[in-house]
Amino acid sequence: MSMFSTGILVLTSPLQTLPLRIAPVLSSAAQLVDRTLYVHLHPGLNLTSGTQPRPVFIPPVVDLSTLITRLYNNAADVCGHLDVRVLLTNIRAQPAASGGAATPNCPFPTPQPLFHSPDVVLTDFALQDPHQSHQVQQCLEKYTGHCYVCRPGISSVLLHPQLVKLQENEEAPESGEEQKAEPIETYSDVVVGGTFDRLHGAHKTLLSISCLLANRRFVIGVCDQAMLKKKVLKELIEPYSVRVQRLQEFLQDTKPSLQVEIVPLEDPFGVSIVDPQLKCIVVSEETRRGGEAVNTKRAENDLPLLVLHEIQLLKDAHRNEIEEEKISSSSLRSRLLGNLLIPPKGSPHLPPTPYVIGLTGGSGSGKSSVAKQLEVLGAVQIECDKLGHEVYQPGAQCYQKVLQVFGLEILNEDKTINRRALASKVFGNQARLKCLTDIVWPEIAILVKQAINQARKEGRKVCVVDAAVLLEAGWTDLVHEVWVIIIPEEEAVTRIIERDGVSKEDALRRLQSQWPSSKQVKHANVVLSTLWESEVTRKQVLKAWNLLQKRILKTKG
Ligand SMILES: *[C@@H]1O[C@H](CO)[C@@H](O)[C@H](O)[C@H]1NC(C)=O
Repeated sequence: MSMFSTGILVLTSPLQTLPLRIAPVLSSAAQLVDRTLYVHLHPGLNLTSGTQPRPVFIPPVVDLSTLITRLYNNAADVCGHLDVRVLLTNIRAQPAASGGAATPNCPFPTPQPLFHSPDVVLTDFALQDPHQSHQVQQCLEKYTGHCYVCRPGISSVLLHPQLVKLQENEEAPESGEEQKAEPIETYSDVVVGGTFDRLHGAHKTLLSISCLLANRRFVIGVCDQAMLKKKVLKELIEPYSVRVQRLQEFLQDTKPSLQVEIVPLEDPFGVSIVDPQLKCIVVSEETRRGGEAVNTKRAENDLPLLVLHEIQLLKDAHRNEIEEEKISSSSLRSRLLGNLLIPPKGSPHLPPTPYVIGLTGGSGSGKSSVAKQLEVLGAVQIECDKLGHEVYQPGAQCYQKVLQVFGLEILNEDKTINRRALASKVFGNQARLKCLTDIVWPEIAILVKQAINQARKEGRKVCVVDAAVLLEAGWTDLVHEVWVIIIPEEEAVTRIIERDGVSKEDALRRLQSQWPSSKQVKHANVVLSTLWESEVTRKQVLKAWNLLQKRILKTKG
């Protein structure tokens, strides 16, 4: 059970042994903290030296950037639910002594405020003598209070007393010939670019290393509009403003002294090829070519070239078959599929049973195959397309109304409505189309309600209303939850052409007459995608179904 919401972990092991300890220390921290875990680095800090230790400047060395990468990597593995942030205010070359003794050499002239005030301080400091623990805790609380604004009455925990043993087994760093740590080259102005969707370990590594490299200004290009078109599951990308806000908050915590400039990226280069002051661009293995392209453009623009600083990307221990190996936003987005993204709005006007899912998605999205799978899992499938045919039958209420408005010329010889003739009458004419849907949709809604009532009489627990126009027709009132299926437009076009044998233009026109998936997703409680192999879809649907069962149980208390 977690006892604290925000913790700050003070890491004191020497830089040489620290990498070995991060995973066990993080996993015990994760048992105490459940939201934000700040990490403060002070390798070699001694909490039993007899005097109250003070924060000092830690020079940025290559080992530190390796450590930070390792830290975010391990965090993703052992405490993925925690928002881990490595704080870098004290990581800086020792400022040159500036004559006056009045300026004490302290990275924190006043305690730094953090977005979440820590309510516990943790440390990896290994205690030799258990009797000292109270004194060490006091010393630690005082030290931390000197650096950061903490909750009053903050408590402290010494993690892993068993690490003492671990330490004995570790090879002691060969004292005496301790190699001089290799300093990191730093730059006045550093630039990076990216989508920064759902800020995760790889982003944080990129941002933190950039903070280590930057002395003065940090410019971040964030993909907007045009740059998102080709992204996988783009409908689930957080809005630009949300992504920017997350970045600002993270960097304000990480290194408040930096001048951070966040600008929208509308093309792959953006600010990086026009800003003469930039000195260094931080890239990963996969964006290195992009960095080289930036320099080509800068050369064309007569601007000084940027130093390319390449970071290592993290491997993701939790990936599944549709995810790439590195931690990426698109794999995080794919994990959202089938999850409850927005809680149901609450439908007091609907009987609780059967629980009704409104399933929708554009043409070619694979909606009917998902509906079929849900049926196999136990849901009653209500196909609105079929009900739509019924309401056009002679004798149905709609029949007369439609004839009155659109004339007898839409009839077949057998007096049934020729839907093709009707469609050509309304095509491209918004007013006539609305006139038709105003007649037909309410009738279909009545049939849907009847089908749901029938399912209730039969004691069925879940209904799936399979409706392409669920949202347009405002049928969300008929359902407890809305599930939306998305696929990229090109894929939908390919599928429509293949399935219906129509031209590309016709397929596109059909898609353009429907709500775009980005608009549908805004109304979705659950999002699914049939973009991958059918086995992946099947697992996704099963996951969504199992989560749904849990929700239904919960609403019944
Ligand atoms: C801390 O300082 C004390 C007193 O100088 C010393 O005995 C102890 O070994 C030091 N501990 C560490 C972990 O360096």
